[in-house]
Amino acid sequence: MMSLSWRSSTFNMKKIICMTFIVFLAASCGQDYNSSSGDYSQYAPIEGIDTSTADGARLLTAYKVFQVKCFQCHNAWSSYKSSAQWISAGLVSAGNQGASLIHTRLKNNGGDMPQDPISELTSEEFAAIEAWINGT
Ligand code: HEC
Repeated sequence: MMSLSWRSSTFNMKKIICMTFIVFLAASCGQDYNSSSGDYSQYAPIEGIDTSTADGARLLTAYKVFQVKCFQCHNAWSSYKSSAQWISAGLVSAGNQGASLIHTRLKNNGGDMPQDPISELTSEEFAAIEAWINGT
Protein backbone atom coordinates (compact mmCIF):
# COMPACT_ATOMS: atom_id res chain seq x y z
CA MET A 1 0.00 0.00 0.00
CA MET A 2 2.69 2.46 1.06
CA SER A 3 4.81 1.83 -1.98
CA LEU A 4 1.84 2.10 -4.32
CA SER A 5 0.88 5.57 -3.07
CA TRP A 6 4.54 6.65 -3.20
CA ARG A 7 4.73 5.59 -6.82
CA SER A 8 1.60 7.46 -7.80
CA SER A 9 2.86 10.63 -6.13
CA THR A 10 6.11 10.29 -8.08
CA PHE A 11 4.05 9.97 -11.22
CA ASN A 12 2.10 13.13 -10.33
CA MET A 13 5.34 14.97 -9.69
CA LYS A 14 6.58 14.01 -13.16
CA LYS A 15 3.32 15.18 -14.65
CA ILE A 16 3.62 18.52 -12.85
CA ILE A 17 7.19 19.02 -14.01
CA CYS A 18 6.21 18.11 -17.55
CA MET A 19 3.23 20.50 -17.56
CA THR A 20 5.36 23.30 -16.12
CA PHE A 21 7.86 22.80 -18.90
CA ILE A 22 5.14 22.93 -21.56
CA VAL A 23 3.69 26.12 -20.08
CA PHE A 24 7.17 27.63 -20.00
CA LEU A 25 7.74 26.73 -23.66
CA ALA A 26 4.40 28.23 -24.68
CA ALA A 27 5.12 31.42 -22.72
CA SER A 28 8.55 31.86 -24.26
CA CYS A 29 7.05 31.85 -27.76
CA GLY A 30 5.30 35.13 -27.07
CA GLN A 31 8.12 36.90 -25.27
CA ASP A 32 9.11 40.31 -26.45
CA TYR A 33 12.83 40.01 -25.92
CA ASN A 34 14.91 37.03 -26.94
CA SER A 35 18.10 37.46 -24.97
CA SER A 36 19.90 34.61 -26.71
CA SER A 37 19.69 36.19 -30.16
CA GLY A 38 19.68 39.82 -29.01
CA ASP A 39 16.56 40.33 -31.10
CA TYR A 40 14.26 42.61 -29.11
CA SER A 41 11.60 42.64 -31.85
CA GLN A 42 12.89 45.93 -33.06
CA TYR A 43 10.06 46.58 -35.47
CA ALA A 44 6.99 45.46 -33.55
CA PRO A 45 4.87 48.59 -33.04
CA ILE A 46 4.10 50.09 -29.65
CA GLU A 47 0.82 51.91 -29.23
CA GLY A 48 1.35 55.67 -29.12
CA ILE A 49 4.73 55.74 -30.87
CA ASP A 50 4.37 57.24 -34.33
CA THR A 51 6.87 55.41 -36.51
CA SER A 52 5.89 57.17 -39.72
CA THR A 53 8.82 59.54 -39.14
CA ALA A 54 12.49 58.53 -38.99
CA ASP A 55 12.69 60.03 -35.49
CA GLY A 56 9.71 57.97 -34.36
CA ALA A 57 11.25 54.80 -35.77
CA ARG A 58 14.51 55.47 -33.89
CA LEU A 59 12.55 56.24 -30.70
CA LEU A 60 10.78 52.89 -31.03
CA THR A 61 14.11 51.05 -31.09
CA ALA A 62 15.41 53.04 -28.10
CA TYR A 63 12.11 52.55 -26.27
CA LYS A 64 12.46 48.78 -26.61
CA VAL A 65 15.83 49.03 -24.87
CA PHE A 66 14.33 51.12 -22.04
CA GLN A 67 11.57 48.53 -21.69
CA VAL A 68 14.12 45.81 -21.07
CA LYS A 69 16.65 47.80 -19.02
CA CYS A 70 15.06 50.88 -17.41
CA PHE A 71 11.29 50.81 -16.95
CA GLN A 72 11.55 48.29 -14.08
CA CYS A 73 12.59 51.29 -11.94
CA HIS A 74 11.70 54.28 -14.11
CA ASN A 75 8.12 53.26 -14.73
CA ALA A 76 6.90 56.83 -15.36
CA TRP A 77 9.10 57.09 -18.45
CA SER A 78 7.05 54.43 -20.21
CA SER A 79 4.42 57.10 -20.93
CA TYR A 80 6.90 59.13 -23.03
CA LYS A 81 5.89 58.06 -26.54
CA SER A 82 7.43 60.98 -28.45
CA SER A 83 10.95 62.44 -28.46
CA ALA A 84 9.50 65.81 -27.41
CA GLN A 85 8.32 64.28 -24.14
CA TRP A 86 11.79 62.92 -23.32
CA ILE A 87 13.23 66.35 -24.11
CA SER A 88 10.75 68.27 -21.97
CA ALA A 89 11.32 65.82 -19.11
CA GLY A 90 14.95 66.96 -19.19
CA LEU A 91 16.28 63.51 -19.99
CA VAL A 92 17.30 64.22 -23.56
CA SER A 93 19.04 67.27 -24.99
CA ALA A 94 18.03 67.42 -28.64
CA GLY A 95 20.75 66.13 -30.93
CA ASN A 96 23.33 66.13 -28.13
CA GLN A 97 24.10 62.80 -26.48
CA GLY A 98 26.83 64.32 -24.30
CA ALA A 99 24.29 66.61 -22.66
CA SER A 100 21.55 63.97 -22.33
CA LEU A 101 21.13 62.44 -18.85
CA ILE A 102 19.66 59.31 -20.37
CA HIS A 103 23.01 58.77 -22.07
CA THR A 104 25.58 60.22 -19.65
CA ARG A 105 24.29 58.19 -16.67
CA LEU A 106 24.77 54.87 -18.50
CA LYS A 107 27.33 52.38 -17.21
CA ASN A 108 28.57 52.25 -20.80
CA ASN A 109 29.74 55.84 -20.21
CA GLY A 110 31.22 55.15 -16.77
CA GLY A 111 27.92 56.09 -15.11
CA ASP A 112 25.70 54.02 -12.81
CA MET A 113 22.64 53.09 -14.90
CA PRO A 114 21.00 50.73 -15.13
CA GLN A 115 21.41 49.93 -11.44
CA ASP A 116 21.80 46.32 -10.29
CA PRO A 117 20.48 43.77 -10.97
CA ILE A 118 19.88 44.98 -14.53
CA SER A 119 22.83 44.41 -16.82
CA GLU A 120 24.73 47.07 -18.73
CA LEU A 121 23.48 47.92 -22.22
CA THR A 122 24.91 45.79 -25.01
CA SER A 123 26.81 47.71 -27.67
CA GLU A 124 23.80 47.25 -29.96
CA GLU A 125 21.42 48.72 -27.36
CA PHE A 126 23.85 51.57 -26.62
CA ALA A 127 24.10 52.38 -30.34
CA ALA A 128 20.29 52.47 -30.60
CA ILE A 129 20.11 55.08 -27.82
CA GLU A 130 22.81 57.21 -29.46
CA ALA A 131 21.21 57.04 -32.90
CA TRP A 132 17.90 58.15 -31.45
CA ILE A 133 19.29 61.07 -29.38
CA ASN A 134 21.56 62.34 -32.13
CA GLY A 135 18.69 62.28 -34.60
CA THR A 136 16.32 64.30 -32.40
C1 HEC B 1 17.18 48.82 -10.51
C2 HEC B 1 16.64 50.16 -10.61
C3 HEC B 1 17.07 51.05 -11.73
C4 HEC B 1 17.19 50.72 -13.07
C5 HEC B 1 16.97 49.37 -13.74
C6 HEC B 1 17.55 51.94 -13.74
N1 HEC B 1 17.62 52.97 -12.87
FE1 HEC B 1 18.04 54.91 -13.30
N2 HEC B 1 17.74 55.44 -11.35
C7 HEC B 1 17.45 54.57 -10.33
C8 HEC B 1 17.32 55.32 -9.09
C9 HEC B 1 16.97 54.73 -7.74
C10 HEC B 1 17.53 56.68 -9.42
C11 HEC B 1 17.47 57.90 -8.47
C12 HEC B 1 18.74 58.09 -7.74
C13 HEC B 1 19.82 58.64 -8.61
O1 HEC B 1 19.63 59.64 -9.33
O2 HEC B 1 20.92 58.05 -8.60
C14 HEC B 1 17.81 56.72 -10.84
C15 HEC B 1 18.08 57.87 -11.54
C16 HEC B 1 18.32 57.94 -12.91
C17 HEC B 1 18.51 59.15 -13.65
C18 HEC B 1 18.41 60.55 -13.12
C19 HEC B 1 16.92 60.84 -13.18
C20 HEC B 1 16.54 62.24 -13.09
O3 HEC B 1 15.31 62.47 -13.26
O4 HEC B 1 17.38 63.10 -12.87
C21 HEC B 1 18.72 58.80 -14.96
C22 HEC B 1 18.94 59.71 -16.14
C23 HEC B 1 18.65 57.35 -15.02
N3 HEC B 1 18.39 56.86 -13.76
C24 HEC B 1 18.80 56.63 -16.16
C25 HEC B 1 18.54 55.27 -16.27
C26 HEC B 1 18.54 54.57 -17.52
C27 HEC B 1 18.80 55.19 -18.89
C28 HEC B 1 18.25 53.27 -17.23
C29 HEC B 1 18.17 52.11 -18.19
C30 HEC B 1 19.25 51.94 -19.12
C31 HEC B 1 18.07 53.18 -15.80
N4 HEC B 1 18.24 54.41 -15.24
C32 HEC B 1 17.75 52.02 -15.11
C33 HEC B 1 17.27 53.21 -10.44
C34 HEC B 1 17.33 52.48 -11.62
